[in-house]
Amino acid sequence: MTDLAHEGKSVVVTGAAGGMGRAIALAYAAAGASVIAADVNDDGLAETRALYPDGAGTLVTRNCDVRNEQAVADLVGQAADKTGAIDILVNNAAMLGEWVPIAEQTSENLDRVFGVNVKGAIFGMKHALQYMIPRKSGVIVNIASVQGFRVAYAGAAFYAASKAALVSLTKSAAIENGQYGIRVVGLAPGPIDTPMLRSSAGEDWPPPIINDVPLAKIGQVEDIARTVLWLSSNDAAYISGATLPVDGGWLAV
Ligand SMILES: NC(=O)c1ccc[n+]([C@@H]2O[C@H](COP(=O)([O-])OP(=O)(O)OC[C@H]3O[C@@H](n4cnc5c(N)ncnc54)[C@H](O)[C@@H]3O)[C@@H](O)[C@H]2O)c1
Repeated sequence: MTDLAHEGKSVVVTGAAGGMGRAIALAYAAAGASVIAADVNDDGLAETRALYPDGAGTLVTRNCDVRNEQAVADLVGQAADKTGAIDILVNNAAMLGEWVPIAEQTSENLDRVFGVNVKGAIFGMKHALQYMIPRKSGVIVNIASVQGFRVAYAGAAFYAASKAALVSLTKSAAIENGQYGIRVVGLAPGPIDTPMLRSSAGEDWPPPIINDVPLAKIGQVEDIARTVLWLSSNDAAYISGATLPVDGGWLAV
């Protein structure tokens, strides 16, 4: 039995101007959902919109800085505007920040990385839950990272800690909201070919991490999008509080 269609569902995807967020937003729209693709990058959002020929669902874009609680509240409100419901929220927006040792870190970098990666996801969950709890229905997907489980790189402390925070927040939100039938799940990507990975890899492509990945390849954004659609579908109805690695086996090493 499969229920992957997501027809008519109201979906918000943050960080949807490129990379995984774009692929996730496009996949939901193709599966029949009403999607709001949000980001701070207007040019990237316009490209995301242009990549969706009108089809099963709808896709609109919205500028939203997830560090701004009111902006996130407004974004979620727009999603619920038509039907009173937001069915699925994907907290995907994130930034790497400056990768330097803790001894050299700055308060500004801490605020930036935690502001987007942690506070942004908290604002999303808080405001989506205002609509999900009364309806006793909804799914929240938090995009974490393998680095939330395994600290792999010196200098990446803030990014890794922000992703570990998301793994923990996913559990807390699942515990608090299971009673309402709301599922909160996490997904921990391994190395995926996106602007984020390309920017950190530089000229060194494919990055050397490929040698540590049992499947010996870099993942594609569609690998993530398919898993997000499945995790938020009724086929995954008994999964909550868990963060699923989609990493080519890297965490098994
Ligand atoms: N690419 C990888 O290998 C990898 C691995 C593990 C986890 N991840 C995670 O996957 C998710 C998607 O990453 P990606 O690789 O597609 O990255 P990306 O940099 O390509 O996309 C991230 C998007 O977030 C947006 N964004 C940044 N700050 C924002 C803000 N304040 N408000 C709204 N949007 C903002 C960016 O504009 C960008 O479009 C992120 O959570 C990332 O941490 C990526």
